[in-house]
Amino acid sequence: MARKNIILCGFMGCGKSTIGNLLSRKAGMAFIDLDRYIEKQEGKTVSEIFADSGEAHFRMLERSASKTLGAKNGLVIACGGGTVIDPENVASLKANGRIFLLDIPIEAVAERLQNDTTRPLLNRPDKDIAMHELYEKRLPLYRAAADIIINADNSPMQICRDILSAL
Ligand code: S3P
Repeated sequence: MARKNIILCGFMGCGKSTIGNLLSRKAGMAFIDLDRYIEKQEGKTVSEIFADSGEAHFRMLERSASKTLGAKNGLVIACGGGTVIDPENVASLKANGRIFLLDIPIEAVAERLQNDTTRPLLNRPDKDIAMHELYEKRLPLYRAAADIIINADNSPMQICRDILSAL
């Protein structure tokens, strides 16, 4: 029988890609990072897509990728931080899988993203304020989209164990 997809969502820096990679190996499933998938299709980084074509265009690519990947089976999918904010993407991804929120406090996010320059939404002089505002706004939406909430302020091994035992 086809295995359902495991979809990881959560704020930038919560560990979606790291956990997704590890989890896919433990579960014997293929891993796809949605942002990397889009980058490969477009031949550009996410930052370049934002700079060249704007956020709305990136969101359109994200919707299309969510639909394509959501229709597949047996994948561990790491979303981008904004993917499940769009209800259309939630529906696409839930068609064939369960959404896990990697829940992490804002303090941990702030520390991890301190020197990061790869997130166009945070590449601004008021980065800290923008990050806090976005986190507050998104947290209820992440929680509403998730089938299962995982405490991601933990070691990668523990997080994987928690996801696997919730399957
Ligand atoms: C975004 C998060 C990024 C990437 C893009 C937009 C967001 O993914 O999709 O920069 O809206 O939060 P990560 O969460 O993997 O950084």
